[in-house]
Amino acid sequence: MHTAVPQASKADDAGPAASSGAGNGHGDGNRNATATTDPGGVPFAALTPEALRRERTSIKWTRYPDDVLPLFVAEMDYAIAPEVQQAIIERVRASDTGYLDGPGPLAPAFAGFARDRWGWEVDPAHVHLCTDVSVGIVETLRLALPDGGRVAITTPVYPSFFEMLEELPVEVVEIPLATDPTAGPRLDLDALAEAFGSAAGIDALLLCNPHNPHGLLHSEADLTELARLASAHDVFVVSDEIHAPLTHRGRSFVPFAPIAASAGVASVTVTSASKGWNLAGTKCAMVIAASAEDDTLLRRLPPEVACRASILGLHANVAAFSRARDWLDEAIRRIEENVNLLKDLVASQLPGVRFVPPEAGYLAWLDFGATRIADDPHAAILREACVALGDGRTFGRGGRGHVRVNLACPPQTVRDAIARIAPITHPDDAEETS
Ligand SMILES: Cc1ncc(COP(=O)(O)O)c(C=O)c1O
Repeated sequence: MHTAVPQASKADDAGPAASSGAGNGHGDGNRNATATTDPGGVPFAALTPEALRRERTSIKWTRYPDDVLPLFVAEMDYAIAPEVQQAIIERVRASDTGYLDGPGPLAPAFAGFARDRWGWEVDPAHVHLCTDVSVGIVETLRLALPDGGRVAITTPVYPSFFEMLEELPVEVVEIPLATDPTAGPRLDLDALAEAFGSAAGIDALLLCNPHNPHGLLHSEADLTELARLASAHDVFVVSDEIHAPLTHRGRSFVPFAPIAASAGVASVTVTSASKGWNLAGTKCAMVIAASAEDDTLLRRLPPEVACRASILGLHANVAAFSRARDWLDEAIRRIEENVNLLKDLVASQLPGVRFVPPEAGYLAWLDFGATRIADDPHAAILREACVALGDGRTFGRGGRGHVRVNLACPPQTVRDAIARIAPITHPDDAEETS
């Protein structure tokens, strides 16, 4: 049985509010000061929205007009890790830009990371390559459920899960997370048991671990019970673990695969360095079988699935998992600082807004349900505050009244966003904004 190990970080000796770039040779060198640079030492002053809009061409910087502060899509404002930049540049210089035939060096690189961070022994032979996590999920489910079936997701959840499942002949079953106003969200194991055991049953569960949008780390006890239920009802589990490398200090991420393997649950994990190191555009991810039996399924993935991954992305992933761990730790520190900052700003400037701080990742889920813009906070904030956030309604049941905020940015960007949003949530403005 897998034993959860706390996030190993050389930053463990510092308090959660402490941050610095010290230790990786690129940082700002003061372990106790609030960071003034990104994880690789680029000054935050060079990463303002105005500067990034001039430099970058991704959706974050092109979807909305210049006066909109974009905190919607899950991209980082930080410069990518120097080790990753170097790896990509080297491959380009070598004109090594052809097709891939499999995970090659990525399998041992990820296995080393999973062992060191989470105590998960990945068999490199069970690692398969795919274009991105989304493709890995779709192609795995296409194999596992050739005749379609009922796929459960625990909402509110990453909106693209709905879009991915539309590519398959499956029925989506939403099983909302349990929400306890004091303890925060968690898997609703009673509801999952009921759905798994119902007459219609559930064929597969698409688990989000850690869970986007809340940044929730499922506990080992909950995952163990989930595995027991999946085993009893023959439910195939796809665990999306893309946010796991961004587990905050002092928290434990529990990979599902070892639990699935010991419970006899058919399961695969889909993951990548794309979220932890901001490499979505480099197009490379992995599907990992939980057991030798699950690997027989993944061996039937069409060879095209590996061929469609990017060779630049593969080398970027290798560099990230093996050589850019210090950068990752520094990114986590900055995210934690922004979480604390947001907590203070919400408390002081957004009366009635509820916020359960994330335990992993850089996304924050804000509940505007008790405010005067409860009906559609996303539209009101975009229209009146010129801040683009994730629209809670697109996350499925339980998402109404909520927005998702991206905190992988300079702290000043967070301050600016809340300063724009605060006036429109105040009761005095009810006339103009209702
Ligand atoms: C939970 C989750 N899964 C998958 C993705 C998309 O990953 P990819 O770009 O590798 O398809 C995201 C992106 O934010 C995500 O949050």
